[in-house]
Amino acid sequence: MRAKMTLDDLKNMFDLKGKVAVVTGGSGGAGKAISLGLALYGADIVPTARTLSSLEKTAEEVRKLGRKAFPVSCDVTDPKSVENMMKQTIDEFGKVDILVTAHGIALRAEAENMPLENFKKVMAANVDGTLLCCQAAAKDMIKRGQGGNIVTVGSIRGLQGHPAGYSAYGTSKGAVHLMTKQLATEWAKYKIRVNCIAPCIFWTPLTEPILKDENMYKIFMQRIPLGRPAEPEDLVGGVLYLSTPASSMVTGHIMYIDGGTSAW
Ligand SMILES: NC(=O)c1ccc[n+]([C@@H]2O[C@H](COP(=O)([O-])OP(=O)(O)OC[C@H]3O[C@@H](n4cnc5c(N)ncnc54)[C@H](OP(=O)(O)O)[C@@H]3O)[C@@H](O)[C@H]2O)c1
Repeated sequence: MRAKMTLDDLKNMFDLKGKVAVVTGGSGGAGKAISLGLALYGADIVPTARTLSSLEKTAEEVRKLGRKAFPVSCDVTDPKSVENMMKQTIDEFGKVDILVTAHGIALRAEAENMPLENFKKVMAANVDGTLLCCQAAAKDMIKRGQGGNIVTVGSIRGLQGHPAGYSAYGTSKGAVHLMTKQLATEWAKYKIRVNCIAPCIFWTPLTEPILKDENMYKIFMQRIPLGRPAEPEDLVGGVLYLSTPASSMVTGHIMYIDGGTSAW
């Protein structure tokens, strides 16, 4: 079987006009940058998270770019809430072409004292939440028969341990990485590609206190060959690549956006 591309296909391989993208964590550092990035290349955006008021800010900026935005409140740990979010998306736009799961929480504690309750909270948001959103999007994609692209958000902590108390978070991100490969393998027959971006630490209001602590900054930078934390915007190119025909032969891939951390 051949899937030849024309010069026009190559020229337009990053074009997202007419596509609908659901971005979980759409009010967060990564989710907002990714929403704006996908909108810049033509997609209409459904930013979703629990707090509707903070999603409105993302939606406003998407609309300023001339794209449609339809913010929907959803708790990704609750199957009914995820189902309802996807239903509202389909009612509004008729389909979902792209899902980016950019939600997540991190609760850190030394491993021997990590409360089981916190471990479970992290797993519920990062692992259960990712699975539920992928299932909901894939059901629509399978029904419509046109395929689709899913980009999960893992972390360099899903590959490597770290001394600063990541037993819950790292475990959850390791699970997201393998879930990505599993879903990619199962859903390839529906032309649904599932890939993952796995960033190193990037600047957000939540990481600012860590990164502004001189000692912690040094610890983190020792492990990043490019010598700086990422910016949320550093994630956009990877998501764009994985959401468009530019990556048409790529599925089940974990793309480390980590300044070279995974290279040594
Ligand atoms: N920041 C980093 O350095 C870093 C590094 C590597 C990977 N990551 C990963 O990148 C992703 C985004 O991180 P970020 O730093 O941009 O996060 P962030 O700024 O803290 O934003 C988190 C987002 O997730 C939403 N969220 C949290 N729990 C939720 C739930 N139960 N249901 C629905 N939405 C929920 C939040 O909104 P509500 O609270 O309103 O629900 C918010 O929109 C996460 O998966 C994170 O693990 C981050």
